[in-house]
Amino acid sequence: MSELTMDKLASFCKRTGIVFQGSEIYGGMGNTWDYGPVGIELKNNIKKLWWKRCVQQSENSFGIDTSILMNPTVWEASGHLASFSDPLMDCKECKTRHRADKLIEEYQRKTNNFDVNPDAMSKEELYDYIVKHNIKCPNCGKLNFTEIRNFNLMFETSRGVSEGKQSKIFLRPETAQGEYINFLNLQRTTRAKIPFGVANIGKAFRNEITPGNFTFRTIEFEQMEHQLFCHEKDAMAKYEFYKDFAMKFFVDLGMDREKLRFKDHDKLAHYAKAACDVQYKFPFGWDEMSGTHLRGTWDLSRHQEFSGKCMEYTDPYTNETFIPTVVEHTIGCDRLALALLCDAYTEEELEGGDTRIVLKLNPNLSAYKVCVLPLQKNLSEKAKEIYKNLTNFFMCSYDEAGSIGKRYRRQDEIGTPYCVTVDFDTLNDGCVTIRDRDTMKQERIKIDEIMNYVAKKLVF
Ligand code: GAP
Repeated sequence: MSELTMDKLASFCKRTGIVFQGSEIYGGMGNTWDYGPVGIELKNNIKKLWWKRCVQQSENSFGIDTSILMNPTVWEASGHLASFSDPLMDCKECKTRHRADKLIEEYQRKTNNFDVNPDAMSKEELYDYIVKHNIKCPNCGKLNFTEIRNFNLMFETSRGVSEGKQSKIFLRPETAQGEYINFLNLQRTTRAKIPFGVANIGKAFRNEITPGNFTFRTIEFEQMEHQLFCHEKDAMAKYEFYKDFAMKFFVDLGMDREKLRFKDHDKLAHYAKAACDVQYKFPFGWDEMSGTHLRGTWDLSRHQEFSGKCMEYTDPYTNETFIPTVVEHTIGCDRLALALLCDAYTEEELEGGDTRIVLKLNPNLSAYKVCVLPLQKNLSEKAKEIYKNLTNFFMCSYDEAGSIGKRYRRQDEIGTPYCVTVDFDTLNDGCVTIRDRDTMKQERIKIDEIMNYVAKKLVF
């Protein structure tokens, strides 16, 4: 079987309706991707399962959905205006722009020489390393860069108040700030005592210039973020708890534990006191999928300072008054979707030399739980009746085109865990054949049992 590359995965995803290039008919637009009918179901399922873990099954944890556009002072208070930047340099020869740390990381991957950590280097150190190691422009192959500048990652837009009078606003680069600025509303309406958590899922935007690696780094992406407000004395234990919580979530989704690892940050973001990622071993190497951040009192203190609103909490038992400490658990939904696709993509050699592609996703993540297939077209009335009934319980698909073998393969490729085949006996005995995606084993069961048979595999 040939090795999985990001290009191979991208063309597989395009063919199967998982992901399409953004603005494709206009020649595309760098670092943007659209999810097709199968991909959107995968993403929705990821979000549903994460919400179930973080809100439904977590004690004292609530949900919120906050705005993408906020009062611009939020970004002054959060520190993003001053510090949320990447080290960029331009090639003087071909005028392309590059992230200095990423050029070094790419060089390290190619040469297998990990002598320095670009995350922990100053602008001057990055520049000197690039010159010393003769790291050339990936576009034109020359070594003639400008000096490195810090480039803010936030997208700006303007809000027209009245003609000629506009104010600059930003597309949020993280969803977390929506949770902090609602701390007082959350506490008042839930009457929750500390420690309590809040989860937020939504789009974030960053002006990323590093291309490639399919959907790994995009300018628009979805974050699933959970903030725990707690007392400082409990923060380290909670930080460790959320590190394990993230790892357990990925393993429970069926990911290969050997391809997951913790990675402490060498250089902390402006808000963090400690930070640890879960990295996944993508076909291009280990890289970040999610993070746990000990943000201390940074965010609430700054919002208190900039808004003038008191963010203190008084413990009803001890009467102690303090600004809560925040432990953040964050996952990029698109990164997780990408890692799950890499992890699930399998090419299997069958008896007789045939190959089948199977997306071995946890059934909870699969776009369709069941595909109903009439053996022949004249059985479609009964098959459609079964299909319609099953759609009351979960996403199903229906396929009557082509040989039964080809139809099974189409479902294997998009990860449908079960195919239900309706044949002539079905009309007499009320039974169907149910086929398992992974084992390809077939069983005969009653039509009435399909729902329970599938539901049993969906416990999470
Ligand atoms: N609120 C904290 C925060 O935003 P982050 O590490 O900058 O932390 C969290 O981002 C997660 O968002 C990352 O672990 C990653 O999965 C995802 N992410 C960040 N930038 C991304 C990008 N350009 N494209 C896709 N996902 C991204």
